[in-house]
Amino acid sequence: MAEIQNGQHEYNGPHSSEENTRLDFQHNALRTVMGNKTLHATLPSPPTKILDIGCGTGVVTLELAEKFPSAEIIAIDIIKPIHPIEKLKNVRFLQGKFADFIADGTLQPASFDYIFSRLLILGITDWKAQTSRVFNLLRPGTGIYEAQDLSWNIFDKEGQVVFDQFPIFVLMVENAAAKGLDTFCGDHHPKYLGDAGFEDVQHESFPWTLQYWPERPETYALSYMFQEGGSKAFRMTVLDKLLGESGRYTSEQMETYKAGFEKMAQDFPEGTHQPFSVTWGRKPA
Ligand SMILES: C[S@@+](CC[C@H](N)C(=O)[O-])C[C@H]1O[C@@H](n2cnc3c(N)ncnc32)[C@H](O)[C@@H]1O
Repeated sequence: MAEIQNGQHEYNGPHSSEENTRLDFQHNALRTVMGNKTLHATLPSPPTKILDIGCGTGVVTLELAEKFPSAEIIAIDIIKPIHPIEKLKNVRFLQGKFADFIADGTLQPASFDYIFSRLLILGITDWKAQTSRVFNLLRPGTGIYEAQDLSWNIFDKEGQVVFDQFPIFVLMVENAAAKGLDTFCGDHHPKYLGDAGFEDVQHESFPWTLQYWPERPETYALSYMFQEGGSKAFRMTVLDKLLGESGRYTSEQMETYKAGFEKMAQDFPEGTHQPFSVTWGRKPA
């Protein structure tokens, strides 16, 4: 399969067949960490219209279609999903940027019951505006938004913050911020939802392991993914986009950072992890 180029899009992660394989693996690894479930919000009634923003391979869209067979489901991404989600009678795929489908009137205000987004950490540069857009699309009184995302903080297995011990991570966070990204968005979602006007905001966190954690077997697949299963290509693209494209570093420095990142990744102590957060709230009447 030909590699898919990012083109002019502002997404700071890879778009490639290898990345698609990683994303589907990641989906199953995340389900295991989250107690064998993907969707967490309690919905007041079965939804009739659902939106999956940044659907990636389409793996969550498939789950939504199966769980809510009578709902109309719209999935959006810059790139086409690898799963043929449009073969399902209740799914429509829109290729492009989320905000553009609001601007052109394709997505109508107050028309959705449930809006889901996961891992847009490298794609959204203004979460305040993003959360307001979602708020406007939801039905008043019952509409639910569920956002799932990472924070690039780092914890040891005792739960102590050890972020400052990893200078390359600190450098990535600084360069991401310079591009307008919020790499702590998972932690900030309760505030983003509250500020946008959501009520009954709930928040749960799960360990996204960067190193194996023998006492927490449910994290095994995520640790495997980071250590051995396709995350290296992801990291190299992100380093290129956040540091390389900034123009601040020479090619020699970039090589040093990339090698340093891989050494750091291998040397993470047992149970080193980041918080993966699930946040949901209801649009009031
Ligand atoms: C890390 S992937 C996650 C995919 C999927 N949500 C999942 O959890 O498996 C992020 C996806 O968001 C898409 N994306 C990022 N910014 C976007 C935007 N503004 N509009 C539409 N899609 C976007 C990217 O193209 C990418 O496929």
